[in-house]
Amino acid sequence: MNKDLLLEIKDLTVSVKRKKEAVPVVRGVDIDIPRGGIVGLVGESGCGKSMTAKSVNRILPPFAETTGGSILWHDSPGETTDLLKLKEKEIRKKCGTEIAMVFQEPMTSLNPMMRVGDQIREVLKIHKIEKDPAVSKERVVKMLGAVGIPQPELRYNSWPHELSGGMRQRVMIAMAMICSPKLLIADEATTAVDVTIEAQILDLIRDMCHASHMSALVITHNMGVVSAICDHVYVMYLGSIVEKAPVRELFTNPLHPYTRGLLSSIPRIGNNPEYLETIPGNIPVVRKPFSGCDFCMRCSDDVRKCFMESPEMREAGNDHYVRCHTALTGPDPGESKGTE
Ligand SMILES: Nc1ncnc2c1ncn2[C@@H]1O[C@H](COP(=O)(O)OP(=O)(O)OP(=O)(O)O)[C@@H](O)[C@H]1O
Ligand SMILES: [Mg+2]
Repeated sequence: MNKDLLLEIKDLTVSVKRKKEAVPVVRGVDIDIPRGGIVGLVGESGCGKSMTAKSVNRILPPFAETTGGSILWHDSPGETTDLLKLKEKEIRKKCGTEIAMVFQEPMTSLNPMMRVGDQIREVLKIHKIEKDPAVSKERVVKMLGAVGIPQPELRYNSWPHELSGGMRQRVMIAMAMICSPKLLIADEATTAVDVTIEAQILDLIRDMCHASHMSALVITHNMGVVSAICDHVYVMYLGSIVEKAPVRELFTNPLHPYTRGLLSSIPRIGNNPEYLETIPGNIPVVRKPFSGCDFCMRCSDDVRKCFMESPEMREAGNDHYVRCHTALTGPDPGESKGTE
């Protein structure tokens, strides 16, 4: 371990059961989350982002299971726990207090029959962090204020349906933050809100990370979100990480054709094309192992090797890595797959 890491996902594999087969949907994923750092995980729908995140706090759906790898939690330098090996009771305790998760749709995560303040206070009670009702209520009101909810004393008594989507998302963040976690996992946490509220919530997550030296894993398919708050980015395609780099480096020098496709599909003011750029084709369905590059069917590079050999992750300098045969060297004309 060469950096001050809080979490290290190493060679993680997750499989889902389809009929009698176990189909890998996360394949050999490595992600490092530094203490106090904000890491983005991007990729098209279905590429395995949520399965990766849910493996960390062990809330995979019943049809999925982790089938390999480790998720190392570095409590402090020299004190490491593999989250995949913890007993159920131990991981539940850790997840409530040290690892918190915010999902996309707060209405499905909040209990419609309970006032929002009481729901947040319940977290303190369950984890035996604060038993005194008056003290815990005061702490919740303070947290509601900290996430930007106006008149927090009044809002404490609101029902979830009385709040707007943005307010509900803030309540979810307050609930996640109330135990002062070391890691926040935000899985599409701003997808359901409008762009103004999205910007406010992203600012909030960033400020909270900086203020309390918290780390965050921000999962999104929106490159704008990544550029707004992340320090480091991992690009995922079909269950594997295909590129990783510091955020500025990735945006100025994207190497993988998939990353370049994701970036060129962002609409820009002043650039007024008739059609938006798209990445041709769809994510293929993984049924059996394929020996070539997972992206070769959608890639514009016409190289035989890509159809024969799966590329390894290679270093490009500046803490930038890419899984592509041609990204660093360009296609070798002699290597054309030849459509003769
Ligand atoms: N309910 C399900 N039943 C069967 N397979 C599923 C189910 N949910 C997910 N999967 C499989 O797991 C893969 C990864 O799903 P995951 O939810 O991690 O994708 P994602 O990257 O989070 O997508 P999104 O951006 O849409 O949230 C999917 O491509 C699919 O093959
Ligand atoms: Mg998802």
